[in-house]
Amino acid sequence: MTIHSTHSMKKSITFIAALCTLGMSFTACDDGHVDDPVYEHTSDGYEVQITGTFKSLDTWTGAYSVVAGAFDDESEYSLIQKVLPSSATDSTTEVITLSNVSIDSKTLEIAVVNTLRKRIATIYSYDIPENQRLDDTIKINVGTLNVGMFGAIDQFIFQGTGTNCSRCHSSAEGAGHLDLTSANAYASLVGKTAYKDSTQTRILPGDAEGSFLYKVITQGDEHVSYSHQGLFTDEKYAAFLDIIASWINGGAKE
Ligand code: HEC
Repeated sequence: MTIHSTHSMKKSITFIAALCTLGMSFTACDDGHVDDPVYEHTSDGYEVQITGTFKSLDTWTGAYSVVAGAFDDESEYSLIQKVLPSSATDSTTEVITLSNVSIDSKTLEIAVVNTLRKRIATIYSYDIPENQRLDDTIKINVGTLNVGMFGAIDQFIFQGTGTNCSRCHSSAEGAGHLDLTSANAYASLVGKTAYKDSTQTRILPGDAEGSFLYKVITQGDEHVSYSHQGLFTDEKYAAFLDIIASWINGGAKE
């Protein structure tokens, strides 16, 4: 009996408390003041939408990938990234979204990264404006980009400012009778007999170690008087030795 009455007392106290809460909210409505609605941000970073056509994406093999990512100016590691969709073809338009992108980000990029998310090369870069608002989605259209593996090797090594192979290999009459200008590099290399040693092939698809070019740039070759290894001492270019090996071993696709 005693236990039962204690129980019902508790119940009525709860009921009164509920009434008070209701009463209070009625009072709040009754005072006639209605606050402007406040839209709160659900995230404290940028929303990003990158649209583009990504050509030759499927030529990548090995431990590197092409991503859409955000970078600050302190480190080479992406703050956030998404690997470009493997479904991308030369004619499809892809839309990549990045959510809650850190406000420390300085650039949004299409970049080649390693498995640790470290940037190896930037293919496309957009500077986030200083006054970028958080509630405006950053929309970027990169158009059509060649993001292929050979394209990256050509852009960053054969024509790149550091290695600049085409400076000496500027035509079929240039050094080693090798033309590494953008328009002719692929055709001058893949399956082509080396000039300095006609028993060797410049690029032998599927066999990096057996390719003359790879020997020349990694270990030198007795037939080539100019030492090329020095071109790759910078860490930035050293990663490309790996990329070139993967490219050759993966079939040296254009
Ligand atoms: C400073 C000029 C210079 C630069 C830069 C240079 N090379 Fe060379 N390269 C030469 C010379 C000179 C030879 C030929 C040496 C000889 O005749 O013994 C040669 C030969 C070669 C050969 C042999 C070609 C054949 O078929 O016999 C390859 C492959 C090669 N270079 C690749 C490269 C690559 C790749 C780069 C860029 C990473 C590069 N070179 C940058 C000067 C250069």
